[in-house]
Amino acid sequence: MAFTFFFRDRSMLSMIIAHALPELKKYRYIRIWDAGCAAGQEAYSLAIMLRQNMGPFMFRNVKICASDHDAESGKFGDMVRDGIYSYKEVARIDSTILNEFFDVIEDKKTYQVKPEIRAAVEFQKHDLLSFNSIACGFNLVLCKNVLLHFHNEERENVVKMFHESMADNSYFAVEQTQELPGGVRHLFDPVVHDRSLFLRKSIN
Ligand SMILES: C[S@@+](CC[C@H](N)C(=O)[O-])C[C@H]1O[C@@H](n2cnc3c(N)ncnc32)[C@H](O)[C@@H]1O
Repeated sequence: MAFTFFFRDRSMLSMIIAHALPELKKYRYIRIWDAGCAAGQEAYSLAIMLRQNMGPFMFRNVKICASDHDAESGKFGDMVRDGIYSYKEVARIDSTILNEFFDVIEDKKTYQVKPEIRAAVEFQKHDLLSFNSIACGFNLVLCKNVLLHFHNEERENVVKMFHESMADNSYFAVEQTQELPGGVRHLFDPVVHDRSLFLRKSIN
């Protein structure tokens, strides 16, 4: 099973809330692509933080397309759709968040993400190395701890695909340790000094 956990990179999520959300809130619909989502913990962590920072009506217009090639288990789609996680998987989540955004099922042995949050996330099986985007017009693309698995040329082509799939004034987030390959750096401007959150540049 892919290594991931809820709120794995809280500083990145906070950066999105602080720097990207004010721009994203200008749009009626907010379209997000979480590429390489594993079993959905990252997509749900982001959805929860967005909900904490916007009202229920605006949140209804948030759609997070969570994708993964799911080569290992073949079960990510079901896991993301159901939003059911074991006690161990939710153990690190702050109890206030757990109480507010999860329902306890089966006598506290498992937890299910509440319907309002689940409604914002949909899973799509997708191989990034197809270099074909799942859709276009995304306001935020999140791809964390995935690009490191690719060769430099593959990384460049995947990032180019992300750029093409994004709307004007949209954001791209990668893990802090991931530098953009040289061939695609001109496509983005860093938003913060550590360069893990970028603003898309329009290239004519
Ligand atoms: C380490 S997990 C990262 C999960 C999550 N993004 C995080 O940071 O916690 C890497 C994920 O990338 C996915 N992945 C690897 N190669 C991929 C590809 N070619 N297309 C789509 N997903 C891929 C794996 O299946 C795995 O779920």
